[in-house]
Amino acid sequence: MAITGASGSIYGVRLLQELPGEKMLVMSKIAKMIVPRETGMQIGEVEALADKVFDDGDLFASISSGSFEYDCMFVAPCSESSVAKFASGISDTLISRAVAVCIKEGRKVILVVRETPKSAIMLENELKLARCGVVIMDANPGFYSEPRSVGDMVDFVVGKCLDRAGIDHDLYKKWE
Ligand SMILES: Cc1cc2nc3c(=O)[nH]c(=O)nc-3n(C[C@H](O)[C@H](O)[C@H](O)COP(=O)(O)O)c2cc1C
Repeated sequence: MAITGASGSIYGVRLLQELPGEKMLVMSKIAKMIVPRETGMQIGEVEALADKVFDDGDLFASISSGSFEYDCMFVAPCSESSVAKFASGISDTLISRAVAVCIKEGRKVILVVRETPKSAIMLENELKLARCGVVIMDANPGFYSEPRSVGDMVDFVVGKCLDRAGIDHDLYKKWE
């Protein structure tokens, strides 16, 4: 699980709170500046939600290698700068290396991308990744579940992420 420097750090925090199993966390340098501003949480509090924490510069970390197996990689929120790196195969940080490895190993990658409006460059990068099987999960809540709070809207997107990872939840009311 990675948190990058897009707005919407709360998506990453809620995912960490809701994900079952062993959770490994990497935050980009700019994410570490945005998280406290947007959530009021200290970095240590966010890191405490994970079982293991790696530095984004630590390319020796286990998740840097294809031989280290895990189920799914979430990047939430995901900046368009990170999307561009992933789409071009640049893997000079632990986050971009872990995503590149997941793509080459055929593992599930779910990106909660947040930017609007999107340029043709951003859309092309996202299309390129979608064609490699990456899930582009825009931070884009639906309203059919009748959200009553910002928290409900966040949980809609987080619930959609869990749906794609095959994890049961009751974070939003499904359409019947
Ligand atoms: C307060 C703040 C909010 C930002 N929000 C976004 C955003 O919503 N989407 C985005 O693509 N970039 C956003 N950016 C720009 C990214 O942080 C920037 O492109 C950075 O290089 C991303 O690096 P990273 O992906 O390694 O975290 C924001 C920057 C700041 C300072």
